[in-house]
Amino acid sequence: MTSIDTSRKKESFKIFNDIAKTYDLLNRALSFGIDVKWRKNFIKNLPKRNGLEVLDLATGTGDVALTLGKDRKVAKVIGLDMSEGMIEIGKKKVTNQGLQKLIDLKIGDGVVIPEEDESQDIVTLAFGIRNFYDPQKALINIHRVLKKNGLAMIMEFSLPKNPLIKMFYLFYFRNLLPFVGNLVSKHKDAYTYLNKTVEDFPYGKEFTDMMENAGFKEIRIVPLTFGIASLYIGKKI
Ligand SMILES: C[S@@+](CC[C@H](N)C(=O)[O-])C[C@H]1O[C@@H](n2cnc3c(N)ncnc32)[C@H](O)[C@@H]1O
Repeated sequence: MTSIDTSRKKESFKIFNDIAKTYDLLNRALSFGIDVKWRKNFIKNLPKRNGLEVLDLATGTGDVALTLGKDRKVAKVIGLDMSEGMIEIGKKKVTNQGLQKLIDLKIGDGVVIPEEDESQDIVTLAFGIRNFYDPQKALINIHRVLKKNGLAMIMEFSLPKNPLIKMFYLFYFRNLLPFVGNLVSKHKDAYTYLNKTVEDFPYGKEFTDMMENAGFKEIRIVPLTFGIASLYIGKKI
């Protein structure tokens, strides 16, 4: 599935420790602020009932958890990530916004998922699964921790279908983005590596097949900004 070896993926959270301090700034700048709009799609696709308990995997600096925490339908968000540096920044953001009672960010592996079976209404995961050392195992465990009728919402980069847009996007993505990312984060190759993981990772039908293999039903894809990213939604029946 991918040419990037599993051992580097197992250690990928260490790269995030190194770039944690500039992560949010670079996300906003390199996506021209679009990443904030993308994360709002989690809210738009929540079921229309109150008291939702959400697990956000690869929560990073907590942007998805914070977006969800501001919605009235959400009663609790647990955010898991392997990077202490990212979690530390996320916790500060949660405290600054006075959401400590609602949002709990902690260290945890998104592949094995330490939560109990059938304990979550929703599992969210944004821009994390391509960094996981075993994405298929993660999908199986997401399915395991969801309650019956629970939803998995997974956002990941994909490639635009339109050839012209794809050409411009890839030029930006392969050249400008890693150059600025490595320079600002002061990391020798973090953004070059992270970009490589995007082009190597399955998207579209290839990814929905993986969800189907994990047991998900009623799978749909919501394309975001010409298909630069996609939100995959699947149900546990
Ligand atoms: C690109 S960031 C995404 C953060 C956040 N979801 C967002 O939307 O900004 C990817 C995150 O995946 C985390 N990660 C990588 N492998 C992981 C694993 N096995 N379990 C949990 N988190 C992991 C990294 O530490 C990093 O914080």
